[in-house]
Amino acid sequence: MACHGQAGITPASGIFPNLAGLTPEYVAKQLADFRQGTRKQPLMNTIAQALTEQEIGQLAAYYGTLAGPPLHVGEAGGEAARKLDQVGDGARALPACANCHGLRGMGEGPLLPRLAGQSKEYFADQINAFRNGSRQNDDVGVMRAFAQRLTDAEVDALGQYYAGAR
Ligand code: HEC
Repeated sequence: MACHGQAGITPASGIFPNLAGLTPEYVAKQLADFRQGTRKQPLMNTIAQALTEQEIGQLAAYYGTLAGPPLHVGEAGGEAARKLDQVGDGARALPACANCHGLRGMGEGPLLPRLAGQSKEYFADQINAFRNGSRQNDDVGVMRAFAQRLTDAEVDALGQYYAGAR
């Protein structure tokens, strides 16, 4: 609660992700990845190493039942962000983010996470982690590849787009 907020919804800005609105499968996978170190974040690595398998399962089930924050995706970030979300950019071999993350970042299935409602700070932090290799838990490296192809201005615009007006 200290970092991820009451009922898994964080205050409007800052580096901490909402956990509410994520699937139990995704929460469990991230805790396992933090524990293993394929996703590096010193505080979360330590916390995840202290959890048992059973506790990871219980936490995943708990957060998986909580409703995510109210969404206003697409009200910010402009046309460039909307295009990357819904069309992509063939010239750079960038598929539409929506192909995997659902339209407007709503999430698509157990392991394709919701982006909608996360802060732009968290969004940029994750893209940078995929870029610099501190996050290597995207199984076949798709996010590490896509993150390299986005400009900083696009990361900023996409962060605003998915965060929406909260
Ligand atoms: C081919 C499928 C695919 C496409 C297309 C894709 N992603 Fe992803 N993305 C993933 C997967 C899978 C993960 C989860 C990796 C994991 O298990 O930790 C992910 C994770 C992320 C995360 C981290 C979310 C979190 O809270 O942990 C961000 C941010 C992200 N993607 C942004 C984007 C953006 C922006 C685009 C478009 C430029 C995009 N993705 C396109 C598959 C995709």
